[in-house]
Amino acid sequence: MHFTSTFVALLAVVPSMISAAPARFYGKRATAAVDVVVYKFADVLEQLESSFYQQALAKFQASDFENAGFSSSQLAIEQINTIFSDESTHSSVLQAALRSFGEEPITNCKFNFDSALTDVATMAATARVVEAVGVGAYLGAAHLISDPVLLTAAGSILTVEARHQTILNILSSTGTAIPNAFDLALSPSEVLALAGPFFDGACDISTLGLTANPALSVTNTGSIGPGTSLSFSSPAITSANDTSTFFCQMMVGDQSLSINLPFDNCVVPEGINGPVAIYITSDQQPLLNNVRDRATSQLVAGPVMAFIDTAPQALGQLARGGSSGSSSSSSSSSGSTPSTDSGSSTDSGSSTDSGSSTDSSSSTDNSSQTVSTTTISPAQASSIIASASATASQASATGSPSTSSPSAPAPGTPGGPNTATGPSDSGAITVNGWTNL
Ligand SMILES: *[C@@H]1O[C@H](CO)[C@@H](O)[C@H](O)[C@H]1NC(C)=O
Ligand SMILES: *[C@@H]1O[C@H](CO)[C@@H](O)[C@H](O)[C@H]1NC(C)=O
Repeated sequence: MHFTSTFVALLAVVPSMISAAPARFYGKRATAAVDVVVYKFADVLEQLESSFYQQALAKFQASDFENAGFSSSQLAIEQINTIFSDESTHSSVLQAALRSFGEEPITNCKFNFDSALTDVATMAATARVVEAVGVGAYLGAAHLISDPVLLTAAGSILTVEARHQTILNILSSTGTAIPNAFDLALSPSEVLALAGPFFDGACDISTLGLTANPALSVTNTGSIGPGTSLSFSSPAITSANDTSTFFCQMMVGDQSLSINLPFDNCVVPEGINGPVAIYITSDQQPLLNNVRDRATSQLVAGPVMAFIDTAPQALGQLARGGSSGSSSSSSSSSGSTPSTDSGSSTDSGSSTDSGSSTDSSSSTDNSSQTVSTTTISPAQASSIIASASATASQASATGSPSTSSPSAPAPGTPGGPNTATGPSDSGAITVNGWTNL
C-alpha cells in the first residue's frame, strides 16, 4: 500500500534525526523523568490522532466527500492523507526516542471514534478540534520539558500540527485559515479532559500520574455564534450543584485572561473568531492564558473546545464549493455559524449535526429554528459581558496578551527588519537576502 511504503521509508530516515540526538548527548545518563512522561503522553496523543485519520480514510469514499460539499474529493483526501502520515511518523519517532532512553512507549490504548465518524462533515469538524488539542498539548507541555534538545524536537512537531490546523480550518468552509495571532496552550489535565472521551477502555496512560479534568460538553444543538447562550453538561455538574454560583470562562488565543460570564448566562460575545476553550469554574476570577500559572483550584469542569467561526474566508469557500456554497453565504450573513465543538462530537453524535446539516446538499437554512439555543441580540450580550466582568472586557478590548507586547518594531514598519525589494528585472523577489525565483 501507498502508506506502508512511505511510512517505512520515513522510519528509516527520521528517527535518526531525533532519537540519535539524545543518545549522542547523554550516553548512559538517564533522561529526566518529566521529559519521559511528556514524550509518552505526546506519543499516545499521536496514536489517537493517527488512529482517527486511519479510520476516517478507511470509512469514507470519494463520493462521501463530494456529498459533504467538497469541490473536489481529491482536495480533501490528499490533505487528510498527509496529516495521517505526519501523525503516524510523529508517533514512530517519539517511540524510537523513548526506546533510545531505555523507556517503553505506551502501546495498549484503544480509541473509539464512532461518534465522530458518522459523516464527513462531523469527521472534518472533529479533526479540526483534534488538531487544536494537538497544538495546545505541545504548547502547554513546552515549559515542562527540561532538555533543550527534546524541547526543540517537540517544537518541530508542534509547528507541523499547526499547519494541519490551518488546512482543517480551510476545509471547514466557514473557518478562518489563521484566526488568531496566538494559539491556546493546554495543560496535560486539560488535554485529557478533551481527549478522554475517545479512549476506549483502560490503557497505561493512567500510569503517567496525570489527572484528567472532568470532561465538559456543550449541549446546544443549533448554530453557535455571537449571541448564542451556551448550555453544558459534565459529570462534575449535577442537580446537587448550585450552578448560579458557577461561571463559564472562554479562553481565546489573543487575550491574556478568559472572558468570564455567569454559568446560566454564558453568551458568546462579539469579537471572537476561531478556537475557544471553555471552562466552568466555581468563582468569578478570570483564568490566565498563561498555562503554567493558570489557576486550577476553582475549576469545576473542562475545557471543551469550540470553534466560533465569524469570519469565513474565500479560501474555505473554494475548498467547499458546490452545494455548500449556499451554507457559507448563509453563515456569513449573520456570523451565525455551524457548531463544531468537540464536546458534542465526543459525547453524542446527535449534537454534532449542525455541521453536517449546513454542509448537506439541502440548502434550507434551519438555523433559526434551533431547539435549545437562546439567541439574544449582540447588544444584550455586550451588556451582560460588561456587567459580568469589567476585567475581561478590558482584556478583550486590548485584543492581545499584555504579557507579550513586542517591543521590537514590527516587520515592515520604520526601523523594522524587513528589507524586501520588489521583483527585479529577472523576476526574482529578494527579502532579507532570501530570493524566491
Ligand atoms: C457539585 O456537587 C457535588 C455533589 O454534591 C459536590 O461533590 C461537588 O463538590 C459540587 N461542586 C462544586 C464545585 O461545588
Ligand atoms: C428544515 O425544516 C423543515 C421544516 O421543519 C424540514 O422539512 C426540513 O427537512 C429541514 N431541513 C433540514 C436541512 O434540516
